[in-house]
Amino acid sequence: MGKIGILGSGGVGQTLSKGLFAKGHEVRIASRSGDKLAAFSAETGVAEGTFADVAAWAELIILAVQGAAAEGIVRELAPQLAGKVVIDANNPISGPPVDGFLPYFTTDRSLMELLAAAAPEARFVKAFSSVGAHLMIDPQLPGGRPSMFICGDDPAAKAEVVALLDSVGWDAEDVGKAPAAKAIEALCQLWCAPGFLRNDWVHAYKVLRPAAG
Ligand SMILES: NC(=O)c1ccc[n+]([C@@H]2O[C@H](COP(=O)([O-])OP(=O)(O)OC[C@H]3O[C@@H](n4cnc5c(N)ncnc54)[C@H](OP(=O)(O)O)[C@@H]3O)[C@@H](O)[C@H]2O)c1
Repeated sequence: MGKIGILGSGGVGQTLSKGLFAKGHEVRIASRSGDKLAAFSAETGVAEGTFADVAAWAELIILAVQGAAAEGIVRELAPQLAGKVVIDANNPISGPPVDGFLPYFTTDRSLMELLAAAAPEARFVKAFSSVGAHLMIDPQLPGGRPSMFICGDDPAAKAEVVALLDSVGWDAEDVGKAPAAKAIEALCQLWCAPGFLRNDWVHAYKVLRPAAG
């Protein structure tokens, strides 16, 4: 899997960088300034840098930034992202929830498709966007390993993401090419609704099938 660069200093970036670093991966985390996470870095041992430096260093990238800023960030980093697997954990949230439902700024196309258009040589895979950060690494739920819906146009990139997900306790559920990101992004709206409505934030999706054979 190689060097993992995590672009984003919020809850997702911190959780994934700490969790993947603890599993032995070479990981760096990034913010715009490159020194925002000095205390986090000192505490966890995860090196930090700017978006551009970490994107250039990394072999696999996880993008976890404010949804509305994602397209601009990706356009600026397109040269550093070219040829690399980029996990898109972002959601196109445009404002606070209304009756528990989060509004999105996207219309016909998913956010991941907008990102892919901004950096056409990056190998985008949607993942991690449909669950809260606190459950992303080794979720312990009574129903067993949950399902992480993924999609993207590059089969080899998806295979890498399936392996990464497996290593942190998730069964990947491949739902096809980039346009399927529209459906995966909507899962965040569903996932958050019980949280906003009833303060219920500990749950995950699981696809149930008949037993094999
Ligand atoms: N929080 C969750 O549980 C969760 C779960 C699944 C998916 N997601 C999605 O994952 C993404 C990250 O979420 P998060 O909660 O970890 O963090 P967030 O607060 O949504 O985003 C923080 C990151 O966005 C950057 N950022 C904010 N405004 C910016 C701007 N105007 N220009 C450039 N960069 C900007 C910040 O830069 P600096 O580092 O410089 O401050 C920081 O790295 C979001 O798209 C969210 O929808 C979140």
